[in-house]
Amino acid sequence: MSLLLNLAKEAEVEEKIRQMFAGEHINQTENRAVLHVALRAPKDEVITFDGKNVVPDVHQVLEKIKVFSDKVRSGEWVGATGKPLTDVVCIGIGGSFLGPLFVHTALQTEPKSAEAAGNRQLRFLSNVDPVDISLNLDGLQPETTLVVVVSKTFTTAETMLNARTVRSWIISSLGESAVAKHMVAVSTNLKLVGEFGINTDNAFGFWDWVGGRYSVCSAVGVLPLALQYGFENVSQFLQGAWDMDTCFRDAPFDENIPVLLGLITTWNATFLGFSSRAILPYCQALSKLAPHIQQVSMESNGKGVTIEGLPIPYPTGQIDFGEPGTNGQHSFYQLIHQGRVVPCDFIGVIKSQHPVYLKGEMVSNHDELMCNFFAQADALANGKTREELLTEGVSEALVPHKTFTGNRPSSSILLPALTPYTVGQLLSMYEHQVAVQGFILGVNSFDQWGVELGKVLALKVRKQVSKSRTEGGKVTDFNYSTNYLLNRYLQEKEE
Ligand code: F6P
Repeated sequence: MSLLLNLAKEAEVEEKIRQMFAGEHINQTENRAVLHVALRAPKDEVITFDGKNVVPDVHQVLEKIKVFSDKVRSGEWVGATGKPLTDVVCIGIGGSFLGPLFVHTALQTEPKSAEAAGNRQLRFLSNVDPVDISLNLDGLQPETTLVVVVSKTFTTAETMLNARTVRSWIISSLGESAVAKHMVAVSTNLKLVGEFGINTDNAFGFWDWVGGRYSVCSAVGVLPLALQYGFENVSQFLQGAWDMDTCFRDAPFDENIPVLLGLITTWNATFLGFSSRAILPYCQALSKLAPHIQQVSMESNGKGVTIEGLPIPYPTGQIDFGEPGTNGQHSFYQLIHQGRVVPCDFIGVIKSQHPVYLKGEMVSNHDELMCNFFAQADALANGKTREELLTEGVSEALVPHKTFTGNRPSSSILLPALTPYTVGQLLSMYEHQVAVQGFILGVNSFDQWGVELGKVLALKVRKQVSKSRTEGGKVTDFNYSTNYLLNRYLQEKEE
């Protein structure tokens, strides 16, 4: 640990954290500041961006969300036919989807949040696959549904097509004028929101200094979550995130949770060369944590060059994946114990959201779950030796199969309970863990040029598909394999 703490010094992590909180343009390739911490700062905090304190702007949007969500929840805001809007469908993808889904999944079984939600429904439509649309609209009535279109840029192809499709679902049932009552937006691009036909009075803004995958504490997450769980619960979530932010900003590095986790993750991935990390919550309500952190981490640190544009001669980032325990144990843990070395983050909670004590059982259901949490880290670290197996009477033939090498790294994180507050802490902890890793690697963790090429090629394919549909003829513009597949697709569609 002392060598890793020296590394943090060498890499000037303290200075980089200062620059981040000071609103400097540390996202150099996009010339942007990285200020998602300002989204959860209390009113009296001062965080400046280009000489202006942004905290009052943040609280102005939060107040607008509070007023709007209170109106919808109380039934003061009604739909085109005068009925209250009890169901919300959020349309967004990537950072405009995964973070809010993670927090929603964590809160939906938390007693206080669940009580606040009552019979309301919150759904997320992300995939442009028409099956996702039909699944998400299934059982909903346009007259009681509020649609929230969430897109930082308001140009993302999948989101905009889904938004147009759902808009036509509303219009075909309630008429054009219903859009004003049934559709609202979250975006930094209010001009395009207006052009889409959503009243910009019903748009909730955020800022260029919030990266998509770091936007769950902006209106991107706060609006849907406040509609479902009430503003008070969401405030506690923001408070938890802010308290972890101040730990990151102020705590000495040997007591700084995100810094320590960032150092350990860098050690495992880059120094020891382990190419993946498993995020393993022993908590069903955290089932969407791994997919969210997967984006935060892999879109941030999956880079091939330094911030100065120089090739990096060592591995950056890691493949993040995960499932709740104990489900993962019955799926991929075999490889983790005896195959490749996969550093693990185990996350457990002391008090269950829904304790169950069955008469006659030795332990509660939650104890049973948590026994696995404690046992797994131990098994990975200590393994099982040949000598132990022989003492237990295992036959020579089976000894190699039953031997565990041990010395497999893991971190265990134990939360008192899963509440809006601790969910906020967990989110901020991982966001800053990823930043520390990027600071040490010397990459820009806040751009995402790597997702562009696929988008550009999809546009080219889209043009070809529509040309072939209207003018006929074979596709010839791509490589042999793509041409063949596309022509087969177009031909079979027409038959
Ligand atoms: O996947 C690429 C990406 O740019 C993400 O970073 C972002 O969260 C997502 O697309 C959605 O973008 P938007 O919010 O602009 O629709």
